[in-house]
Amino acid sequence: MPRDSFNREIDYLRISVIDNCNLRCVYCMPLDGLRFLPKDELLTPAEIELVVRAAVSVGFRKFRLTGGEPTLRADLLEIVERLAAVPGLGDLALTTNGLLLPRLAMPLKEAGLKRINVHLDSLNPATVERQMRWGSFERVWEGIMAAEAAGLVPIKLNSVVAAGYNEAEVMDLARLTIERDWHVRWIELMPLGGGKCATLSIKRYVSNIETRRRIEAALGPMVEHESNNPYDEARNFKLPGARGVIGFISPVSEPYCATCNRMRLTADGKFHLCLLNDDEMDVRKAIRGGGGMEAVARILVRAVELKPTGHHLLEGRSTRERSMYQIGG
Ligand code: 5AD
Ligand code: SF4
Repeated sequence: MPRDSFNREIDYLRISVIDNCNLRCVYCMPLDGLRFLPKDELLTPAEIELVVRAAVSVGFRKFRLTGGEPTLRADLLEIVERLAAVPGLGDLALTTNGLLLPRLAMPLKEAGLKRINVHLDSLNPATVERQMRWGSFERVWEGIMAAEAAGLVPIKLNSVVAAGYNEAEVMDLARLTIERDWHVRWIELMPLGGGKCATLSIKRYVSNIETRRRIEAALGPMVEHESNNPYDEARNFKLPGARGVIGFISPVSEPYCATCNRMRLTADGKFHLCLLNDDEMDVRKAIRGGGGMEAVARILVRAVELKPTGHHLLEGRSTRERSMYQIGG
């Protein structure tokens, strides 16, 4: 397994397959002024497969497809099929906003996808409309149901808490874990990209300490739940008698850089070395210049060696060149 210069074992690659999205969450995408990658700049399914084969050859095991919204890629099923067939690949998951899952959940499962994370900020349709814009709670919910019916389990829901939006409703999502074997996780806002959404992310930040307090005030004290994954970025808990798990992803109030096991690949083929820094290495150029698996593997090993640690979120600084929808979380 490749180790970086801080002795972290890096074996998890998050692959952004597209930078466009069919939602406009207030902290992620502005309503105007966006420019998306033209199709010829996106890695093709064959190119993504090449990177994954190279990654497996140097010890990567876990892979996740993200976006923007990955289900907007017309060739997503081909990508999943190709990756699922790579020998030695361990886990293959997808992060989505769920809107297109009613149609895609079963085909994705059949193509070899193992699990999904669905992004949903609230169970209150009015809040979803205000915070995620463009979508609707009902459609996301249908997507979640379709994923569960297709066996893309365990279902994980990710919720980004924003002051004045969903902050007072967190107990509603938490309550779902009592009856259902789901993971519901709260993510602290991070300012990425330096634009309007970054400003909002700073202004509307809510600490997970506060979110946890709200949930416990409504639903009783939680007990810590040992994760079987030492690299889990979430701190996990259970409500009394609950079937599911509650997780807190707290990059600001409880940084987890020391156990980061991730590398990221952007939709235009750059290894992005850390979500919260700007360093990148171009792999598309090498591939389109005729480089094969060994060339890609060399770049990846170098990217791992150069992976930085530590962030500057408390000073309001992070990645400036890219926004969240261009990296995929
Ligand atoms: N801060 C924290 N998380 C964010 N996401 C999007 N924008 C932000 C932000 N500013 C999350 C969404 C999505 C994941 C890819 O990133 O929840 O699920
Ligand atoms: Fe789309 Fe996810 Fe960004 Fe929301 S957070 S706009 S669903 S990419």
